Amino acid sequence: MKVSKLRTSISLLLILTTTCIWSQTVVKIKLTLDSEPPIINKHIYGHFAEHLGRCIYGGFYVGEESTVPNIAGVRTDIIAALKELKIPNLRWPGGCFADTYHWKDGVGPKNERPTIVNTWWGDVTEDNSFGTHDFLNLCEELGAEPYLSGNVGSGTVQELADWVQYTNFVGTSPMSDLRVQNGRTDAWKVKYWGIGNEAWGCGGNMRAEHYVDVYRKYATFMSGSGIEGGLYKIASGASDANYHWTEVLMRDIPHHMLQGVALHHYSVIDWSAKGPATAFTEEQYFTTMERSWLMEELIQKHTAIMDKYDPEKKVDLIVDEWGGWYNVEEGTEPGFLYQQNTMRDAMIAGMNLNIFNNHSDRVKMANLAQTVNVLQAVILTENEKMLLTPTYHVMKMYNVHHDARLIPLSFDSPKYEYKGKSLPALTISASKNAQRETHFTLTNIDLKQTHTVILDIASLKIEKIEGKVLTSEKVHDHNTFDYPNNVHPKDFKNFKLKNGKLEIVLPPVSVVVLKGLNRR
Ligand code: AHR
Repeated sequence: MKVSKLRTSISLLLILTTTCIWSQTVVKIKLTLDSEPPIINKHIYGHFAEHLGRCIYGGFYVGEESTVPNIAGVRTDIIAALKELKIPNLRWPGGCFADTYHWKDGVGPKNERPTIVNTWWGDVTEDNSFGTHDFLNLCEELGAEPYLSGNVGSGTVQELADWVQYTNFVGTSPMSDLRVQNGRTDAWKVKYWGIGNEAWGCGGNMRAEHYVDVYRKYATFMSGSGIEGGLYKIASGASDANYHWTEVLMRDIPHHMLQGVALHHYSVIDWSAKGPATAFTEEQYFTTMERSWLMEELIQKHTAIMDKYDPEKKVDLIVDEWGGWYNVEEGTEPGFLYQQNTMRDAMIAGMNLNIFNNHSDRVKMANLAQTVNVLQAVILTENEKMLLTPTYHVMKMYNVHHDARLIPLSFDSPKYEYKGKSLPALTISASKNAQRETHFTLTNIDLKQTHTVILDIASLKIEKIEGKVLTSEKVHDHNTFDYPNNVHPKDFKNFKLKNGKLEIVLPPVSVVVLKGLNRR
């Protein structure tokens, strides 16, 4: 269809009005007329679960004997919540843990599995009771693609090649026979594989020049037989603005053995003074937003390097760790990275997801760190209780963009001002799906100002709009086990559609999703 019609017919005008100063900025939304806008890959909405703190043990996994309702040891309430989210993929088992993980420790009878020490995260004893079968069966249950992080730091080429054979080989082979012996006949057919994690740091403190050769060797022995299109191999990527890392990877790894290059960026105020997760100051809020906005610049600059070596955009940028990182909650183990989740986190999520959507020509996957009880979690648990965080609600509101076609737009945002500094207050992204529905997601990070957006959508032929908003009185507001619905999305009516002009009033610290139903 309709896409070409969409491309030629849309000439949108976005008018932004900052109500406080009565100024109006009129900006044309630019459309890419010479090529089709990209599809927003649903994998941008991916998640990450590491053997860290209470993410797996005491989070996802309570064991089959638990009084907490479970399917094969995994909490049914978490499974239901993640299904509701339409979780597209899950990265496991790390993180830093991945480069200490020997997968054979985690298969076979549970009572015969060896223990190891989780040296990265609190030196706790890991009994390997949650292993490959548990994880891959969970992904099947969720309808999510597994993304396995291979051990390069302390593993061997043979070990990773064996893992691929164990999970994927259909016929008779040493590893597929072992899989059958361990109770699983059908191959899981895992497509997404990370070759190491943070190879510049916890994954081995390598130089990029050394890692590229290590990558080439590992990738050579990972067989993609039986997987349509072959394995999707992801190189351990840069931290933040380490552009040299991306440059060397793109230059020195042959692109036929490289499907994705990773990037990690956390919205952390200062690694030595991260600040509290809930009782933060405006200064800390502003700085978190500043760090969060860095994602835009990082994607642009890493993409520019990738474009130089891969103008046809065959290699994808995979932001496989992102999110807010604060001090742990008082009284909790520092190595467990357990933090609460407020409207500030909703702002990080809304902003970053809009940024990813708008760069969906290169960004094809992203993984929020981490799913349960760790960092910017979508779910927190306490014994039998579970709550959904503000971040969960944003991820759910935005899942309307999964595999929809981006509607590219650009505008000059009004500013969120703080003590002589300023940041763009708004991020917006839009898409149209196969059911002819148009969706807009808008995030206003401004702590004090309401901003009004006017979109000329006449050419979209939208006749009916409905919306939801996530906002709260205070940016510190969050859900607790006593008040799990303190922050939750509500119907949003603060918009007008008249003569093809859509006027939306965005309250301070808010995330809005609008669904436009097209005329037939
Ligand atoms: O997500 C927590 C840790 O952050 C991961 O293990 C590591 O990859 C990153 O440094």
